Amino acid sequence: MDKKTKIWLMRQAGRYLPEYQEIRKKEKNFMNLCFNPKLACDISLQPIERFDFDFIILFSDILVIPYALGQEVKFKESIGPILGNINYEQLEVNLSQNLERLAPVFETIKLIKQKKKEKDLIGFCGGPFTVLNYMVEQGTSKTHEKIKKFIKSNNVLSEKIIKIITDISIEYLKKQIDSGVDVIKVFDSWAGLLDGDLYKKYIIEPNKEIAKEIKNYSPGTKQIFFPRGSKENYFNFIKEVQPDVISLDEEFPDNVFSYAKKNDIILQGNLKPTALIEGGRKLKKGIKNILNKFKENKHIFNLSHGVLPQTPVENVEILVDTIRNYNET
Ligand code: CP3
Repeated sequence: MDKKTKIWLMRQAGRYLPEYQEIRKKEKNFMNLCFNPKLACDISLQPIERFDFDFIILFSDILVIPYALGQEVKFKESIGPILGNINYEQLEVNLSQNLERLAPVFETIKLIKQKKKEKDLIGFCGGPFTVLNYMVEQGTSKTHEKIKKFIKSNNVLSEKIIKIITDISIEYLKKQIDSGVDVIKVFDSWAGLLDGDLYKKYIIEPNKEIAKEIKNYSPGTKQIFFPRGSKENYFNFIKEVQPDVISLDEEFPDNVFSYAKKNDIILQGNLKPTALIEGGRKLKKGIKNILNKFKENKHIFNLSHGVLPQTPVENVEILVDTIRNYNET
């Protein structure tokens, strides 16, 4: 087995980097940044220039899909995303027209590949339920009351919209692949809100559909899935979806290790983002523990969620050096 542990970080392009803040100061509108191919390319490459991570991740956001479907999406400083009203019953979908609105993202991908063709580029979308969550909550929510009510009381409608989001996400990923991405990742950040039949219907089924369609379309494109917060359901998820790579947060059942090993699934994860803020001996110990925990499996080093804005850049340097030194011994 290849002993070299690869590393990249969720949100590796973002607010903890002074060079990102520099660009962000000049472009206050986050969506404009996502749709500016030159700047989005530069931002995607910033963490590569600094840390030489093993993967580039496209700089964009999962909320470009609601935008493509005609919902207004804004980002407010220190609040997060705010989405406009949408009439679900009248949602008019014409996939190629909707995706036309995301043309700048495909330009960004081409620019990144022109500049760094030797390094694998990760494209992405949100998991359909997570995207629906933001569309219904119209932003970040603590209680998720609206989405829970929505899927309970609007059964037919929520199934219809999940299907629309799934279909557009598949087409969106295909276009990302056509433009040059080598790997795709599906971020289902709110998978952990559901359990039982609802987990099956809104998490497993849509993710499985995406995995199957993308495998048919481009068998060589590696697929990473992140059903965050799934806990015990992580096992059913990998059994059903059969991802090439499963992105793990901190809690998942032990049988994931043996199942992944048997079925050649790579495990990705799972250092706590707060460990990177803390630094020092605790950080080094945390890193070693993770390398040890995954040593019998194929493993890509990552966090259990995104890099936090307060993270000192020096700690990310320590992390990368620790992994690289470990690889040499
Ligand atoms: O470096 C990378 O990981 C690539 C770019 C990327 C961003 N968002 C940039 C971003 C990716 C892959 C995402 C995914 C994303 N976006 C998810 C799934 C992963 C996760 O974190 O759970 C979600 C849920 C979103 C939605 C979103 N985008 C929220 C809730 C927020 C505000 C809160 C926050 O975490 O910042 C964003 C904003 C956002 N997306 C920023 C960045 C760099 C910060 C924007 C800023 O500069 O102010």
